This record gives sequence, structure tokens and C-alpha cells, in this order.
Amino acid sequence: MAKFLIGFMGSGKTTLAKAWSKDAIDMDDYLEQKYRRPIYDYFDQGEEDLLRQRESEILQELLATDQIIATGGGIVEKAINRELFKQAEAVIFLRLDFEALYERLKQDSMANRPLFLSLKKEDLFHLFLKRQSLYEEVATLIIEVGSRTPSELIKILLLSE
Ligand code: S3P
Repeated sequence: MAKFLIGFMGSGKTTLAKAWSKDAIDMDDYLEQKYRRPIYDYFDQGEEDLLRQRESEILQELLATDQIIATGGGIVEKAINRELFKQAEAVIFLRLDFEALYERLKQDSMANRPLFLSLKKEDLFHLFLKRQSLYEEVATLIIEVGSRTPSELIKILLLSE
């Protein structure tokens, strides 16, 4: 069964997954390639529901692999996804405080983060608060990112295996 990295946008899921395994899969990239449609386009067209539905299907599909999977920050919003995570080998929550996340996002605002680009800081903070308990609910391991480098985080991950 797969191991998942979860957490808010900017917490470093993709970077860490790729540093952990060269075969790691980024769910956003996977979804974009599978449906040949960029993430931002679902938001532009008012089709976030379709994006979330596809995200669930992909979660189910990837669960059965033995890969390390970096998820999108909104994955925990759907109850069905939280249920699916119970079957995973590990669900690792990369926890970081909001101000640190916000600074990281400002420096790395990617096109597949339309929520960061469109929401006011205050609204993004509410989204962050709403999701914290959901990440905690499904996590089998919580890692405090703080100012740790990817290689320091990998050491923690390997010790947890
Ligand atoms: C989202 C996070 C993004 C991407 C999409 C929605 C979210 O992924 O899935 O823009 O709802 O937080 P990252 O967490 O990898 O940025």
C-alpha cells in the first residue's frame, strides 16, 4: 500500500516525496497528465467539484501502489478520502505554522495554486484552520517542518519506518 504526504499548500510535500523516492508521484501532476488539463483550469471554469471528484478517483487508484505519493492540500476535505486514507501504509502530515507557509507560498506561487493566487490572506488562514484538524485526524505520523531541510526530514521519515 502507498505512503502519502499530506499538508497545506507550501508545506513541501512534493519536494520531500521526490527526495524520499525517485519514483514518487505528485497527485497534481498525475491528475494533470491523466486528464490533460491543468489544475488552474478547473478553478477558472468553476469546476472545482469535478477536480475534487477526480482527485478521489486517483487517490483510490494510487492507494494500491507501493509508491510515495505527494497529495494536493485539499485532499482531506472529502470524507471519502479521509476514509480511504485508513487503508494507506502511512499518512504523513507535514505541519508548519500559517505565517511560515504563507512566506513560502509567496516565494513559490505556482500556476497550480489558484487558491493561493485568488484568496485573501485572511480567507487562506480560515482554510488553513479548517483543514488542520482534518490532517491531524488522518495522519499516522505528524512531522513538524519548522526550519528543517529536506534531508533532515528524510532522516525523520526513515527512522519512523
Ligand atoms: C489545493 C492545493 C494544490 C492543488 C490545488 C488545490 C488546495 O496542491 O491540488 O490547487 O485545495 O489546497 P498543493 O498542496 O500541492 O499546492
